[in-house]
Amino acid sequence: MKDTPAGAAKYDFFMRGLDMLLAKKWRRKLWNRVEGPAVLEAGAGTGLNIPYYRTEFKVTALDNNRNYLDRARHRAVRYDLKINFIIGNIQKLPFRAESFDTAVTTFLFCQLHKPLQGLQELYRVLKQGRQLLLLEHVRTQGLFGQLFTTVAEPLYRLTGDHIARDTESFVAKAGFVDVNSTPVFTNAVRIIQARK
Ligand SMILES: C[S@@+](CC[C@H](N)C(=O)[O-])C[C@H]1O[C@@H](n2cnc3c(N)ncnc32)[C@H](O)[C@@H]1O
Repeated sequence: MKDTPAGAAKYDFFMRGLDMLLAKKWRRKLWNRVEGPAVLEAGAGTGLNIPYYRTEFKVTALDNNRNYLDRARHRAVRYDLKINFIIGNIQKLPFRAESFDTAVTTFLFCQLHKPLQGLQELYRVLKQGRQLLLLEHVRTQGLFGQLFTTVAEPLYRLTGDHIARDTESFVAKAGFVDVNSTPVFTNAVRIIQARK
């Protein structure tokens, strides 16, 4: 999707549709596990997680798409929240080490060229013992999963994204421990939780 206001509007429309059909309850489940006070949402997009931010959190919402973040800023006006919006790249985060209590991403890792680097950066900026929470579509096992991956992944790659990454193994490789994952839609969409 193009980095223009029209591109951001189109993307937001599409994602709100997905939210209405399916994703709202997944987001709620993820945000129920978030621990504050200092929370980083990386790849915050147009701000579809903002309704789940709690007032006691100090959230930093980062994205590399200026127009998406403008929509997120606009969406946030309805809520009485402290949010620091930052344009930046998850693969080179502009924060000091040990800054956050939870780092969250939703539907981001399918887009990253260097997922391990993104996770290493999240590891660096998390405080010791604090948590990583991801809501992502990932690679699945079993016949249906294999079939889906074989057919859908090459098509999806034409958009530049990866629909079926082994994200949990990247999480472990980045140094996180206690990696555990909860399926929220078949086995293909999961909440992945881990600690530094
Ligand atoms: C599929 S969207 C999901 C947006 C939002 N998390 C949600 O659930 O609605 C992926 C987001 O990641 C952002 N993104 C992609 N690569 C990024 C990077 N290297 N650094 C920061 N954000 C990135 C995109 O601009 C986009 O907003």
